[in-house]
Amino acid sequence: MSYPYQIKSLEAYKEAYKKSVDDPEAFWGAIAENFLWRKKWDKVLNWNFKEPKIEWFAGGKLNITENCIDRHLATMGDKPAIIWEPNNPEERVRTVTYNRLHKRVCQFAQVLINNGVKKGDRVCIYMGMIPELAYAVLGCARIGAIHSVIFGGFSAQSIADRLEDAKAAFIVTCDGAYRGAKDIPLKSVIDDALVGNKTVKRVIVYTRTRTPVAMLKGRDVWWEDEMEHAETQIEKDGVVSFPAVEMDAEDPLFILYTSGSTGKPKGVVHTIGGYMVWTNYTFVNIFQYQPGQVHFCTADIGWITGHSYIVYGPLSAGATSLMFEGIPTYPDAGRFWDITDKHKVDILYTAPTAIRSLMGFGADPLKGKNLSSLKVLGTVGEPINEEAWHWYDENIGRKRSPIVDTWWQTETGGTLISNLAGVTPAIPSWATLPMPGVQPILVDEQGKEVTEKDEHGIIKGNLCIKAPWPGILRTTYGDHERCRTNYFATYENLYFTGDGALKDANGNYRITGRVDDVLNVSGHRIGTAEVENAINMHTGVVESAVVGYPHDIKGQGIYAYVICSQHESEEQTRKDILQTVTRVIGAIAKPDKIQFVSGLPKTRSGKIMRRVLRKIAEGEMQNLGDTSTLLDPGVVDEIKNGRV
Ligand code: WTA
Repeated sequence: MSYPYQIKSLEAYKEAYKKSVDDPEAFWGAIAENFLWRKKWDKVLNWNFKEPKIEWFAGGKLNITENCIDRHLATMGDKPAIIWEPNNPEERVRTVTYNRLHKRVCQFAQVLINNGVKKGDRVCIYMGMIPELAYAVLGCARIGAIHSVIFGGFSAQSIADRLEDAKAAFIVTCDGAYRGAKDIPLKSVIDDALVGNKTVKRVIVYTRTRTPVAMLKGRDVWWEDEMEHAETQIEKDGVVSFPAVEMDAEDPLFILYTSGSTGKPKGVVHTIGGYMVWTNYTFVNIFQYQPGQVHFCTADIGWITGHSYIVYGPLSAGATSLMFEGIPTYPDAGRFWDITDKHKVDILYTAPTAIRSLMGFGADPLKGKNLSSLKVLGTVGEPINEEAWHWYDENIGRKRSPIVDTWWQTETGGTLISNLAGVTPAIPSWATLPMPGVQPILVDEQGKEVTEKDEHGIIKGNLCIKAPWPGILRTTYGDHERCRTNYFATYENLYFTGDGALKDANGNYRITGRVDDVLNVSGHRIGTAEVENAINMHTGVVESAVVGYPHDIKGQGIYAYVICSQHESEEQTRKDILQTVTRVIGAIAKPDKIQFVSGLPKTRSGKIMRRVLRKIAEGEMQNLGDTSTLLDPGVVDEIKNGRV
């Protein structure tokens, strides 16, 4: 494959950026020409942020799996699409060529049809990181079903909420998943999620761990049996065919639930045409992907990073995507470097939290590992501190591989702000320049553009985007109003990211973190309200307030202030609360610290003054700001003294 839209110099970047802003329709229309359409679009872009209504390539007909698979078969059929590295390094590596991927996706698409799944139906996928997860996702896309992948760390209750919100009647799962030293009993979690559920008609179960599972007659079927049967339907005389369903560019591709500042996760909806163009364009340009390279994104497909940069971006570009089942520290902290050496990885894309945790193991795990294949390094998910950036640069990149710091969100589909590897300059801890088509603006609380510079020429404000790019979310599932109020109503005619940022005199951006009540714990987005709701479900808890505090490895830790009506022993109650949060959300949302308090700092109108709680959690005891409006200022001293 060739990528005529790959930007090769700083001048070319500037030129592309200017074109993309001056005439977005001409710019994106030309890029979209590089994809496979059954029918071209009638109009490149229709939009207003008021409703919001955003349409890219309206009237265009396509199937994204033909772009990710079929169009590569003639020239790259025997090239690896997916290299799968198992959790246990002793287990066999699996290499899935584009031909094999085509067959498996067609087979699974047939399985979905055989089980009654139709275009537009929602299919919930709860699996570990195995190639079958990619087959399931792409199988849905092939028949126009909407996938909703749920990360394997979420609890039964979280799954039940998402199933209900998405009105999903189909589930694809595994008996279990391996993650480091742990086996996670996925099917049994699904069974718990389905207690009392009347809408789920079918659960397809892949055997990964051979954990005993309960298979309900009439509802649960084995993946292996279904696939075997489907094979006879899609393959005739060695030729595989399963015609992809023709979709509209603006039909939904998937729903992915993510946390916001309210208690309930939102189902972010991405549509086919724009998302395809955006993930491909950003993949090819940011990582400066060259044909034949191996791309290793360490994320889980349960998060947006895995959707965009393990599945859709790399496969639409005909790349080899390395998929890893395990964790960075199992069996030891040299796992990423072993994989890099073994598979001659060209591009490594990971999270700052992983870098910080591996940094803690020193240089030993790197000994004897040949990392010379690495050409580009990337980070995503949270701000990267300079120390981690330099460690990554020196030890992993050997000061020869550019680092791209990619800023984006579940809602943005793909990266919005990043340097382009080796093409535009990197600045440690700065995401730097917007991608073509992305028009950032920094505003104050009132939505007015900030122009005032500090003594270093830096502007500081809330990060918004002025116009749509192809990968922007279209709605939140089943509740368009929620999408409007969350993202498009804070500031008129702007998409509000929820992040704060700095901008320097050269137009580079540095993301400073969330300005709303959303935490970023080890690169996972967690809403404080969600954690509070979970804590409050424990009997004996009267009220709670959750804030973030700086954590050396996780980026942010979760600090909970809890009022209890009575407690037998604090230690016991603490454990019970942790168990409750694990049950309600999942272990990823467990507070790192719990402080029992007799009251919370509230204003006379009953609002919790989170600023004060945040400062105390951070260990900042002096400058708590104005506390004179508090109903009971005395509570602040008690909280300070009891800090854990
Ligand atoms: C944060 C992950 C600083 C940010 C792709 C954003 C970052 C949230 C960066 C989205 C980065 C992501 N530098 N902060 N390079 N990348 N973030 O939806 O706060 O899981 O709003 O998407 O992560 O998290 P999400």
